[in-house]
Amino acid sequence: MKDRQNPIKTGEKRSHIIKKQGLFAYALKTPCDIMVVHVILTKKGVHVMKIGVLTSGGDSPGMNAAVRAIVRSAEGYGYEVYGIRDGYRGLVADDMVVLDHKSVSGMLSRGGTFLGTSRLPEFKDEDVRKIAIENLRKRNISVLVTIGGDGTYRGAMELTRMGLKTIGLPGTIDNDIAGTDFTIGFHTAVETIVDAIDKLRDTSQSHRRCSIIETMGRKCGDLALFAGICGGAEFIITPEHQVDKDIIIDELKKHKAEGRRHAIIVVTEKQFDVHALAEEISEKSGFSSRATVLGYIQRGGSPSPEDRILASRMGSYAVDLISDGIFGVCVGVHDSRMIHMPFAHVIDQPRPKNDLYKLVKKVS
Ligand code: F6P
Repeated sequence: MKDRQNPIKTGEKRSHIIKKQGLFAYALKTPCDIMVVHVILTKKGVHVMKIGVLTSGGDSPGMNAAVRAIVRSAEGYGYEVYGIRDGYRGLVADDMVVLDHKSVSGMLSRGGTFLGTSRLPEFKDEDVRKIAIENLRKRNISVLVTIGGDGTYRGAMELTRMGLKTIGLPGTIDNDIAGTDFTIGFHTAVETIVDAIDKLRDTSQSHRRCSIIETMGRKCGDLALFAGICGGAEFIITPEHQVDKDIIIDELKKHKAEGRRHAIIVVTEKQFDVHALAEEISEKSGFSSRATVLGYIQRGGSPSPEDRILASRMGSYAVDLISDGIFGVCVGVHDSRMIHMPFAHVIDQPRPKNDLYKLVKKVS
């Protein structure tokens, strides 16, 4: 209340804090309220802080919600946001567009990434990264927010080493990033997989079959683990929890002898040739078996409420970090709290084995 009556004082206070970080802020009184505009003071004069944002690597539901949160939160600080098209490719090709309040309207519920994404192996080359940094400097974009997985973080860490101010947001369905309990898109992908398991159970039950469902996840089994538990799978096979083929077949024989009508096996990609496994199960276990590879449908779809909230919180938190002058870090959620840490603490770091594995044997 006091601040509203004396808006300039609020601005002065803020400017005092921000000056310490090499930034300068002033307060404007608008008809409805106060707006604090952050500007950067350089030798060439004063200009508004500009943030670039890109999505990179495999798309994930909620990436759009994160971009929306960044744009809208940045607006509150008076920052300008540039959307970079197709991930690091657009950064190198100087393919960027100004994003304002209106350009992200309707994006909260949209799957995929409206900015586009790509994988750019050439970004490992320092000369290519120099072009990217130069393109940002040309437009006075001083901060880059990258949304993606491990490869995206690696690119951002290299840019940080080269002097660029960066922030990373974990956007991948795989949930394979250390330093966060959940990544943006994971919960939606789990829902998609559970929906598929429920449907496959119907037909498996009718035909007395064993259904094998292959999920994505790369080196992380969380998609198979969470969806397998939600879908009541008899077996969950992941990089962290491998099960020998012969043990599966022996168990299935027992299930058959007990008179069970069907079985569900959820397996992370690259653990088995699932079609060959289905054939072997059909030959040896007494269950006829079929394999379904869910593939790219796991990456699509409107983000779940959980992912919309996570993406909105993370996007907004990233802008708060920028206003606090904190860079070279990636955002995470731990025990429902927003956290951040340097890229180096996250990249290539192992994640502890999920406690949910203890549940698998008990409830299957
Ligand atoms: O986004 C991660 C991921 O979904 C992995 O689970 C999967 O292995 C990979 O992407 C496939 O990506 P693409 O074929 O698009 O390169």
